[in-house]
Amino acid sequence: MNPTPEPRRLTVDATALGLPPGKYALPGYGNILDFAAGDNAKANEISHRLTLHFTGRMPLAELRAEEVDFLRDHLRGQVQDRLQDCLDHFAAHVPRRYAEATPEPQAAEWARKVTLAPHDTRSLLLVGPVGTGKTHYAYGALRAVAETGARLLWTSYTAANLFGHLRPRSGVESETEYQAIVTAPLLFVDDLGAAKLSDWTEEVTYRLINDRYEKCLPGIFTTNVRPADFSDMFGARVASRLTEMCDRIAMKGDDRRKQAAK
Ligand SMILES: Nc1ncnc2c1ncn2[C@@H]1O[C@H](COP(=O)(O)OP(=O)(O)O)[C@@H](O)[C@H]1O
Ligand SMILES: [Mg+2]
Repeated sequence: MNPTPEPRRLTVDATALGLPPGKYALPGYGNILDFAAGDNAKANEISHRLTLHFTGRMPLAELRAEEVDFLRDHLRGQVQDRLQDCLDHFAAHVPRRYAEATPEPQAAEWARKVTLAPHDTRSLLLVGPVGTGKTHYAYGALRAVAETGARLLWTSYTAANLFGHLRPRSGVESETEYQAIVTAPLLFVDDLGAAKLSDWTEEVTYRLINDRYEKCLPGIFTTNVRPADFSDMFGARVASRLTEMCDRIAMKGDDRRKQAAK
């Protein structure tokens, strides 16, 4: 007896169906047979047409309306589960102080773009003095990413913790740790340049930024270093890559922490 095959999971351009992008389990023959009310000949024909569609040989517009509805219903069932996973990931990883951060409109727009085209969306670089809301803005953007329901799982570190985490020490395979971070689908590094740079931290920063740059992987970075001082602070190689790979957002205003203390 043939085992029942696993439903195929494919990256589907579900946006055309009004659903978030991502990997979906396609309808299996059993689903199609149900839809065809048990009519094998009809199910075979629909199955063939859907295969043509998923292999790029039949545009959505050429599927029959009832086939599109069937497909949408089948995929929609998977959206709710995935959205819940994304919101759970956010809730589990956001620091308590920023748990209520909501996205600025520009951040929500960025989140939409980055989930649709992670390799073609520039990273965000939030620049501004201490207390202007950079970290808050970044977590708002990460919430917006979660709210799209696209499984673009993120990893976040303050630069200081990142260096602490990667520092060679016994019992830890630093290179494996580094590889996990450098390949994260979306990486948030907070407060670049806040920790004093040594030759070692400068080299790690360069490797990290350059590897992410080469892989076209998106990120969010924050710093209170002024753009004019990037080269001095991070070195010319990092400064130039950050400038090319990021949209810079200037955070202005007074230190919100001082206001809160008044
Ligand atoms: N848009 C905002 N709405 C409400 N509180 C904010 C907002 N932006 C920042 N804050 C609060 O102000 C304080 C400083 O913001 P933070 O993001 O930590 O600043 P930065 O990272 O620039 O030093 C934090 O307590 C943060 O929760
Ligand atoms: Mg901060």
